[in-house]
Amino acid sequence: MDNGTALDNGAVPDNGTAPETAGDEVLRPHAEQQYAAELALLAEHDDRPRPPGWRLSPWAVTTYLLGGELPDGTEVSPKYIGPRRLVEVAVATLATDRALLLLGVPGTAKTWMSEHLAAAISGDSTLLVQGTAGTPEEAVRYGWNYARLLAEGPSERALVESPLMRAMRRGMVARVEELTRMPGDVQDSLITLLSEKTLPVPELNAEVQARRGFTVIATANDRDRGVNELSSALRRRFNTVVLPLPESEADEVEIVARRVAQLGRALELPEAPAGLEEIRRVVTVFRELRAGLTGDGRTKLKSPSGTLSTAEAISVVTSGLALAAHFGDGVLRAPDVAGGIVGAVLQDPASDRVVWQEYLETVVRDRPEWADFYRACREVS
Ligand SMILES: Nc1ncnc2c1ncn2[C@@H]1O[C@H](COP(=O)(O)OP(=O)(O)O)[C@@H](O)[C@H]1O
Ligand SMILES: [Mg+2]
Repeated sequence: MDNGTALDNGAVPDNGTAPETAGDEVLRPHAEQQYAAELALLAEHDDRPRPPGWRLSPWAVTTYLLGGELPDGTEVSPKYIGPRRLVEVAVATLATDRALLLLGVPGTAKTWMSEHLAAAISGDSTLLVQGTAGTPEEAVRYGWNYARLLAEGPSERALVESPLMRAMRRGMVARVEELTRMPGDVQDSLITLLSEKTLPVPELNAEVQARRGFTVIATANDRDRGVNELSSALRRRFNTVVLPLPESEADEVEIVARRVAQLGRALELPEAPAGLEEIRRVVTVFRELRAGLTGDGRTKLKSPSGTLSTAEAISVVTSGLALAAHFGDGVLRAPDVAGGIVGAVLQDPASDRVVWQEYLETVVRDRPEWADFYRACREVS
């Protein structure tokens, strides 16, 4: 057999690529790859105490997430746009022996924040377990390489580490996505791991004791059947931070504009002028429909069934930019976003269509400066 060290090679089922294999051709580099330069600079300027196993101090991790300026004048770009206190609470939690649960509706940057926290704290965001109804216990504990197991019996070499076991051995952050979607017994296997910080391997009459620096960041969607599914025993192991929808329209426009610019660069879309007006319009439509109220507070609206999250606004604008760049004159205009907006709103063909028609005819039509948008929507509705 070729790879003698089964523990270090190919043992992470979720992602075969090691962090150092990033090239220009990678479609989506991990946070620690994409922001390697910023992370290195932060570490260099960071003279505050670092918790055991951490690459950066809590202060530097927070600066990495929220952005800021380093003593030498270098700008650190903001990754998360939202209340500072919330990020501080999340980071402080991870510096204790408690795990962190990020909770919120879809598209509130739970996954995004968890990736960036892991990148900043451990320098590796890839120790990830995706929670689904079919997540097996091996994904949380460990599995076996059956060929070896049959040939040699249970041994270290036949053991296949889970991302969590790996994180424990190395003293790093492990991520659990969509925790509440995992079956209850799989969730329960997290309990010992989080409370005792140890993972027994009875087959080898051994255990893996977590090294300092080990912790877990889990995300869960509060639109799923609910966190009620999370057993109270497990829930007690977590500090919960709820990620809110962007508070103001200006915040949301900034988030969308920033992410769209980054994505456009990554996809090498031809450079298009910001199209800030159009972005603002997308955000306004989403916010009004979400709130069930027009921005001026005068007209009550029905809300559609979809979430119309910031994340969806980002993808509507990004697709619009691709249309503008390849088929238009390069400037983002109403017809480039209309189709995307209508698609995002009409999740349930019957009920959402009524909601949308009403919004279109009572709100959009009455805004003189939205005439181009009204026309474009009529064409695709
Ligand atoms: N407050 C925010 N600050 C920065 N980016 C945000 C914010 N809210 C949403 N996003 C963007 O939305 C996208 C989707 O977020 P994601 O983490 O997948 O959502 P969730 O896991 O909560 O469903 C990400 O690309 C992220 O950049
Ligand atoms: Mg997510």
